[in-house]
This record gives sequence, C-alpha cells and structure tokens, in this order.
Amino acid sequence: MPALLRSSTAILLTWMCLIAGAETRTTNDGVYTREQANAGEKLYAEQCISCHDKKYFRPVFKTWDGRSLGLLFTVMSTAMPESNPGALPRKDYVDILAYILKLNRYRDGDSELTYENGALEEITIAPRQR
Ligand code: HEC
Repeated sequence: MPALLRSSTAILLTWMCLIAGAETRTTNDGVYTREQANAGEKLYAEQCISCHDKKYFRPVFKTWDGRSLGLLFTVMSTAMPESNPGALPRKDYVDILAYILKLNRYRDGDSELTYENGALEEITIAPRQR
C-alpha cells in the first residue's frame, strides 16, 4: 500500500474509534464540570430537596441503569418539580443533573454537560466505577 494511502487509512481508523468512543460514553466518563454541579447544588436546594433528599437518586440510578441521561433529563425537565413541572430553563435542569451525578459520586471532568445536539442521548447511565 502506498505510504499516503496507509496514513490516511490510519487517520480514518482513528476517527472511527473516536466516534465510536463518543457513542459509548457513560456516566463514569467525567461528563460534567465541577462548576456546573456547584450551580446545580444551589438550584437543587431551591427546587428539589423539599421532596428528594440527597440520597434519593442513588436507588433511582440503579433502576435507570443502561438508559440514557437524555431520557432522565426529559423526565425531570418535563415532570419536575412536581409542584411546577417544566418551570425551569433547560440550562438549570442540566446543572441540576450535573449535581445529581455528583451526589451519586460520579467523577467530574473538563467538558460541560449539555442538552444540545442530542448529547445527553449519547451518555448511558452505568453503575459507578471506583
Ligand atoms: C413537590 C414534590 C417534588 C418536587 C419539588 C420535586 N419532585 Fe421529583 N418527584 C416527586 C414525586 C412524587 C416523584 C414520583 C416518584 C416518587 O414517588 O418518588 C418524583 C420523581 C422524580 C424523578 C423520577 C425518579 C424515578 O424513579 O424515575 C426525577 C428524575 C425527579 N423527580 C427529579 C426532580 C428534580 C430534578 C426536581 C427539582 C427540579 C424535583 N424532582 C422536584 C416529587 C417532587
């Protein structure tokens, strides 16, 4: 195989791996930032803690194992807070979701959790890895 073709094949393979990797991200892959979780903590205290204490989401995540964060986001952003469903901006729900991940002791990372471009659909809820 000519060298040029060989190197472009290598680049293509690298890209394919990156894309495949992006599709299989889980909640263990540092999918939110510490700043987001801190913003979410405040919102959670204002909007959610009256009905869901800080341990509420541990068992919830077990039942959501294998589903996407996108689905959980849809549920919480359309049905919660129960007293005023869908009342918050989507950005606030994302920050709250980041905080919930922190409460469940998933690690944070360098990139923000975002609801844009179906990004949440590509993150699978998985049991926490130590
Ligand atoms: C007025 C009480 C109330 C408030 C405030 C509230 N919730 Fe809920 N939430 C409920 C009830 C009731 C359920 C149904 C399940 C249950 O009985 O725990 C529920 C269920 C959920 C579920 C689904 C859990 C599952 O088992 O699949 C999520 C996610 C959720 N709430 C997120 C939130 C978030 C995020 C907030 C804050 C923005 C919030 N809730 C505020 C009462 C509330």
